Amino acid sequence: MKKLVVLTGAGVSQESGLRTFRDMGGLWEEYDVMDVATPEAWARNPELVNRFYNDRRRQLYECEPNAGHRGLAELEKYFDVHIITQNVDDLHERAGSNKVLHLHGELKKVRSTANPNLVYELDGWELKLGDTCEKGSQLRPHIVWFGEAVPAMDEAIELVEQADIFVVVGTSLNVYPAAGLLHYTHDDVPVYVIDPERPPVYRDGVVFIEEKAGAGVDKLKKMLLQP
Ligand code: OAD
Repeated sequence: MKKLVVLTGAGVSQESGLRTFRDMGGLWEEYDVMDVATPEAWARNPELVNRFYNDRRRQLYECEPNAGHRGLAELEKYFDVHIITQNVDDLHERAGSNKVLHLHGELKKVRSTANPNLVYELDGWELKLGDTCEKGSQLRPHIVWFGEAVPAMDEAIELVEQADIFVVVGTSLNVYPAAGLLHYTHDDVPVYVIDPERPPVYRDGVVFIEEKAGAGVDKLKKMLLQP
């Protein structure tokens, strides 16, 4: 089976009702990223940061995967599909994708502020200040904030280097190191980009599918499976 590696961003979850970050009406229009998604923000104003992620988590419980997530999961019938996602939602998993690597953490998990290896599934949507790990330290959202290392990056690079086909869905490619993953593909690997707005992808032979994720993944499937 050919290895199909997919890099996804907030756009793949837009049709599920989750806001993207940089589009009109996106989250970074309402919030300053430095106030809610950095370790400095957590040190300065943990109430605000915690409320921001509690809100995101509560919304996630009200959302369902969309046709884009489901279409990518269905591709597992034909390809060895690996999803590398910048998203912290669990919609790929709920749609049935079996191999999902989260670059920027997971909203439904929390971890110890004292030991990053102590990671827990949160019961319900609400993390409270005062909730602690088994060693008694405050728990924080299991999110990779700006300025923090991306521990899953080496694994992601290895996957992209092995890709036979590479697909990008719903990311503005603004945030590094994730945005640089494309450059680890071999020159002869076909690259497909699904996004209603073309992100800056400078590479020969890229096929742009200028659609939302639901319709775009359907088109991709037809292109990949045509005899
Ligand atoms: P952005 O908000 O930067 O980009 C969203 C992309 O999705 C844009 O290119 C849109 O054109 C596209 N889009 C919008 N609706 C779509 C739809 N229905 N179907 C397909 N595409 C659609 O989000 P990301 O690139 O994911 O990190 O942002 C990357 C990172 O920046 C996030 O993981 C987050 C953020 O700050 C952290 O918070 C650490």
